Order: sequence, then C-alpha cells, then structure tokens
Amino acid sequence: MTDAFTARAPGRVNLIGEHTDYNGGMVLPAALAVGLEVALVPRPDSAVAVASNGYDAPAIRDLADDAVGDWADPCVGALREANALGLLRGGATLEVQSTIPQGSGLSSSAALIVAVLKAAREAAGAGPDDVELAVAARRVENLYMGVPCGIMDQMAVALATPGTAMALDTRTLSCELVAFPRGYEMVVVHSGLTRKLTDGRYAARKAECDAAKRHFGTEDLCLLDRALVEAAELDDIPKRRTLHCLSEHARVQKAVAAMRAGDMASFGTLMNASHASMRDLFEMSLPEIDALVESSLKLGALGARLTGGGFGGCIVACVETERRETWLKELSARHARSRFIDAVGAEP
Ligand code: GLA
Repeated sequence: MTDAFTARAPGRVNLIGEHTDYNGGMVLPAALAVGLEVALVPRPDSAVAVASNGYDAPAIRDLADDAVGDWADPCVGALREANALGLLRGGATLEVQSTIPQGSGLSSSAALIVAVLKAAREAAGAGPDDVELAVAARRVENLYMGVPCGIMDQMAVALATPGTAMALDTRTLSCELVAFPRGYEMVVVHSGLTRKLTDGRYAARKAECDAAKRHFGTEDLCLLDRALVEAAELDDIPKRRTLHCLSEHARVQKAVAAMRAGDMASFGTLMNASHASMRDLFEMSLPEIDALVESSLKLGALGARLTGGGFGGCIVACVETERRETWLKELSARHARSRFIDAVGAEP
C-alpha cells in the first residue's frame, strides 16, 4: 500500500517461566525469526478493513463492534486502543503479512496487536514507549478480546531483539537482555496439536491461581515461601498450582544465571525440571507432548520442555548447533505430526 505506515513484530518462544507472568514472577522469552508485518493507512471514518496473507477474504468491521472471536479481533481491539491513546482518530485499512503459525502458542495475536499499535504510533509521529504499548496490547487481550493472559507475550514481541533472551520481571516490568552463548540453539518444534487461549483451560488455571491468591492474600504467588505453602491448609489443586509458580520462578532466576555463565548443561536441566512441574503440578501438558519432550532428550537435547500456555502447541529444546540437523531429522522420523518452526541462538 502506498502512504502506509508499517511496523513489524516477531513471534516469541518462552525458554522457561510458564504461568508466572500473572503471578508476580519472572519469564525468559526470546524473539523468533518468524514474525509479521502490518501496513496501516488511517481512515477518516470508523471502518476497519483487514487483509491478511493467512486468510482468503478480508474482514470488514467497525471500531464500535464488539469482539466476535475471529482473527480480525486483535486488529479492531488494537485500533480502538490506538484511538484511546490519541494515536489515531478513526479506523484504518490494514494489510498483514505473517509467517507465525496460528494456534501454536507463539504469540501471533500479541504480535499483531503490538505491530498495529507501533504502526499507529508511526502514523502519529510520536507516542508511548514500547513498554506502555505492551501494557496497552495486554489491555486489548484482557478487556476487548476477553483473553485472561499475562504480560509476557506483549513485552516479548514489543521489546525482544534477535540473539538475546529477555529476562523479564513481570511484577515490575523491568527487563534485561541476555546474549545467547555460541554453539547452542533453542529449537522450536510444533507438536501438531493446536490450541487456543480462549478454549477455557487457560482460564481454568488462572481461576485456580486466583483461588490461591485469595487464600494467601497476595497477587504474587511466585514470591511465596515453599514451606509456608506446603504447610497451608488449602485444597490440593490450588496448592499444587502455587508450588509450580514459586518453583518455576526460582528456576527462571537460576536459568538466567546459567545462560550468563554459558552453562547450557545446567540450563537444560532447569528446562527438564520446568517440564516436569508443568506436567505434574500445573497439569498443562498432554501425553503426546510429554512423548515429544522425552524423545528430544533421548536424541541428545540438553533440555526440552513444553512452551507457552499449554495443552498443545510447541516444545522448545536446547540443542548443540552442530547436532541440530541430525537431531531434527531423527525427531521428525519418530513423531510424524511434529514440525520444525524456528531456532534461536547467538547472532552470527
Ligand atoms: C500464554 C499467555 C502468557 C503466559 C503463557 C504461559 O502465552 O499469553 O501471558 O501466561 O501463556 O506462561
């Protein structure tokens, strides 16, 4: 489109720290090479017209429309937010080019919202910084689309840079970029099972954490003392969810230190412990995903785990760069439904 304002946002993979981002804890996501680009032309009326390479027919909506549960909702919500922030006055025509597979837990929705907001900021010439845009993008998911997610995805796609992982404290939103050590890659493999954050299972886990928050009188389950939680008179389910959160938060802290030290063997061990906790305490894995993680390790990965919201989507495995091709070939021979998505590591 001529005279369009453009912006790009990557997909993201979370290396460790799952379901800690709405419980006061840390996460360690990284930007992927797959991503999307948005071209935005402001309109004087309130119409929203979106075309995407992923869908045959364009979506035509109005800024006043409620979310309808389809792929264009993130765009309508982002444009409403852009108006509320004073970046636009009216609707827009949008063209989206994306290489992020939908339903994989790689933040296609957060990337779309953040890219639309960044393009709207371009159109305005100035505006809120990337952290404020990420917070606005989360509002779109929580309040407009009704997705009860945390802040990790929006921060990652708004701020993460290639070649680094982003150590983010979701309680304070302070973050630091940690360079990947050379010789290793974080390989993202799709399980073949798709999932949606709106299918109810994510919200169910969030509700269980909310019950634990009420019991302990805190928003920050990740910061609770393990002995206190173990001794608490609380139902088994919220107790196990809390034990996952606080141990996962501690693992992220250790994983950040291990990555800084270039100690990827320890990093891998922490990934494995994270997967076990997601499987047994947070109960967000599936047998097929457990099997994929197990094969990853048998075939020589230093660590492997489910990544993202759970109940499908991708795994991430830490593999030595020189073994990656053989590892991938053997993994896909054993798991016909799995497919390679992307790999991140040190910048060349
Ligand atoms: C999804 C949500 C994030 C986060 C992860 C789990 O990706 O969008 O906010 O809660 O699940 O770590």
